[in-house]
Amino acid sequence: MQDWRRTHRCGELRANHIGTVVRLNGWVNSYRGYGQQVFLDLRDRFGITQVVVEATKENPALFQLADGFGREWCLAVEGIVRPRLPGKENPDLITGAIEIEATSIQVLNQCPTPPFEVTEFPGEELAGEDIRLEKRYLDLRRLSLQKTLVLRHTLNRIIREYLSERDFLEVETPLLGKSTPEGARDYLVPSRVHPGSWYALPQSPQLYKQLLMISGYDRYYQIARCLRDEDLRADRQPEFTQLDLEMSFVDQDDVLTMIEGLAQKIFKVCRGVDIALPIRRMSYEEAMLRYGSDKPDTRFGLEISDLSDWAKGTDFRVFKEAIAAGSVVRAIHIAQGASKFSNTDLKPGGKTSEIAVNAGAKGLAWLKYEDNKFLGGIEKFFSADSQAALRDQFGIQNGDLLLLIADKEEVAAQVLGTMRLHLAQVFGLLQGKENSFDLLWLVDFPSFMPDPQGGRYVANHHPFTAPRVADIPLLESDPSKVMARAYDLVINGYEVGGGSIRIHDPAVQAKVFSVLGLTPEQAQEKFGFLLDALKHGAPPHGGIALGLDRWAMILAGTANIRDVIAFPKNQRARDMMTGAPTPVEPKQLKDLGL
Ligand code: AMO
Repeated sequence: MQDWRRTHRCGELRANHIGTVVRLNGWVNSYRGYGQQVFLDLRDRFGITQVVVEATKENPALFQLADGFGREWCLAVEGIVRPRLPGKENPDLITGAIEIEATSIQVLNQCPTPPFEVTEFPGEELAGEDIRLEKRYLDLRRLSLQKTLVLRHTLNRIIREYLSERDFLEVETPLLGKSTPEGARDYLVPSRVHPGSWYALPQSPQLYKQLLMISGYDRYYQIARCLRDEDLRADRQPEFTQLDLEMSFVDQDDVLTMIEGLAQKIFKVCRGVDIALPIRRMSYEEAMLRYGSDKPDTRFGLEISDLSDWAKGTDFRVFKEAIAAGSVVRAIHIAQGASKFSNTDLKPGGKTSEIAVNAGAKGLAWLKYEDNKFLGGIEKFFSADSQAALRDQFGIQNGDLLLLIADKEEVAAQVLGTMRLHLAQVFGLLQGKENSFDLLWLVDFPSFMPDPQGGRYVANHHPFTAPRVADIPLLESDPSKVMARAYDLVINGYEVGGGSIRIHDPAVQAKVFSVLGLTPEQAQEKFGFLLDALKHGAPPHGGIALGLDRWAMILAGTANIRDVIAFPKNQRARDMMTGAPTPVEPKQLKDLGL
């Protein structure tokens, strides 16, 4: 072969090419030898083309060569396009009408027997994730990963088009900077030039985008890498990608409307689904009460009910004491759920009880209703009237189950929120809902939460979130009552975005730092540049960041964030392919003064 470069791609040839001499480049997807014939499926990212190598007297060397090929070898194939034999066409393949009769083949590179199948077969389990991550370059040849990377490309393209059409400017902000608090630990980079000093990699471009607003850029966006050293979960990576945006002279509705239009376009183009606008809104308080979560999956019911008033009137000591101590009693009613759970499951140490305990509960109370009466042990503490009130509240029928928790409000929400998701699994409530996308804005968040580390407060979003104007005086008198001008976007139980209107008044910003326990000196040391910038004619502004990896997960229908990232880290934040993080040479440390 004089020239091995392709004339066509592997997904390109059709019946109208019959008789043409072509050259294809690609990988051996599969290989079948039949006596005097070898069939190869040659694959590139555009498709698969069948190649036939026949043993002929004129060219015995070619057949011998083909006989030695293996899967994933990289080849250049020259040959003539011919129709497949009648009945041998493959309608599942875009090139299924034709095949190439090879006249010459050049091996561009060999490959040892791959440690796992690159070809996916429906219903067949994939090889273990560790080995696939270790040989990610092979794993990425799989069709479903290819499709996901194409999807991510499309997502970025739609975003850029949509925002450019609306006068947003794409601006890059530094990776080497100062800590931007988003609630995680920083990844730190030592400075060689300034021994003992460190850069922080951005947890988000939050402060830079606010500074851009102060500089007058008005509408900014960036498809930004963010780095957070936090415990990993199925939907969290230490480095991930945000669509980060910011707008000047806007209020909450302007930002939400902008994002709603984008969300609608994304779902239309990527999934062919029409999203009805406006996206409904729910307060944080309502979400915590009804769903026990600030990112509720509202595709199924099993809502949580507050029974505190009812519990007060019962003789059950556990409930009464809880209420007296300022706790709540809440429950989930599961119609016809009793038979799914044995009493042993529900009792202390049982499977279901343990789910509640692992989520933070001291224990799980339960009542079944069978043969027109409550069962479960605790019913003896409830008078006939109390029992009747409970039946009426839920419309209880024989075969129903109630799971009850008495605890502090946030614990009861957390436990029943977890239980709700578990019940959805047990009853298969999400089956058949793969194509239903439930979008929800969460609004009306409190600005501050009690600090689990023992300080007074931490910011619910971040310290730059504006309080409601009417609540500004409460910053001094009762910060716990201050509500934020913040919003989260939730889809199918995932938090896929979060943002807020920002503080643009330096005095308010200083007060918020003080609520968060920073002395004026500490605030100046950490965020002096921001406080100073806010004094220079800062416009009212606000924005949002969408977690694009999570968007890609939802659009691709996977629950594993590593499925939508080309080179992800494993659950222990390690790159299984390169081995990073790895030790470095002592000299490098010395140069850095470490
Ligand atoms: P926030 O911290 O809510 O807001 O982040 C925005 C969105 O980013 C996604 N996300 C993650 N995705 C994958 N792995 C992670 N470790 C991870 N952490 C967050 C989520 C989340 O909703 N500066 C603010 C935005 C703003 O106020 O404009 C911020 O970063 O989908």
